[in-house]
Amino acid sequence: MRLTLAAAALLLASASLSTALAQTADVREPGLLPYMVKDYAIEKSLTGKPGDAANGRALAITSGQGNCVICHKMPIPEVAFRIGNVGPDLTEVGGRLTPGEIRMRIVNPKLLNEETIMPAYYRVNGLNRVATRFANKPMLTPEQVEDLVAYLSSLK
Ligand code: HEC
Repeated sequence: MRLTLAAAALLLASASLSTALAQTADVREPGLLPYMVKDYAIEKSLTGKPGDAANGRALAITSGQGNCVICHKMPIPEVAFRIGNVGPDLTEVGGRLTPGEIRMRIVNPKLLNEETIMPAYYRVNGLNRVATRFANKPMLTPEQVEDLVAYLSSLK
């Protein structure tokens, strides 16, 4: 009985630790620019500069890059025929999430939900189900992440 209680306490402790880690983290991975996660958001631009929304819109529909539309509804009429609905509708995401919250969800949505099927676009560790051309480099450059943040933040 004693042992069981101790084990349960240990489990609880490790569960709250991993939650705390995801909520706040100082992420430094080789090959990536460092960034800070706080309250499930990355407040600062990865590049230190704002992104280009027009470029972000183009990335969102480009296969092999963002290709966000395979899972998300977005107001991009020219690809309406191939828009998926696996993820939430992003038509008004800029009114619902702050730019920092959007940035974290593009960089690594696993910090919020370990089970999510959404890929982490700015991550090198834990990419075990992606094409080999992405091995050891993130799926998107920091500039491309910022372009997507600028585009999504404009959707209100
Ligand atoms: C394989 C499907 C898939 C792809 C591709 C994908 N997402 Fe997602 N996304 C999801 C799912 C599912 C969620 C819901 C969150 C979860 O699973 O925890 C989500 C959540 C989000 C959210 C949070 C929305 C909210 O209302 O909370 C944002 C922002 C987002 N995705 C942006 C993007 C962007 C930008 C891209 C392209 C660079 C992208 N996603 C590509 C599946 C995907």
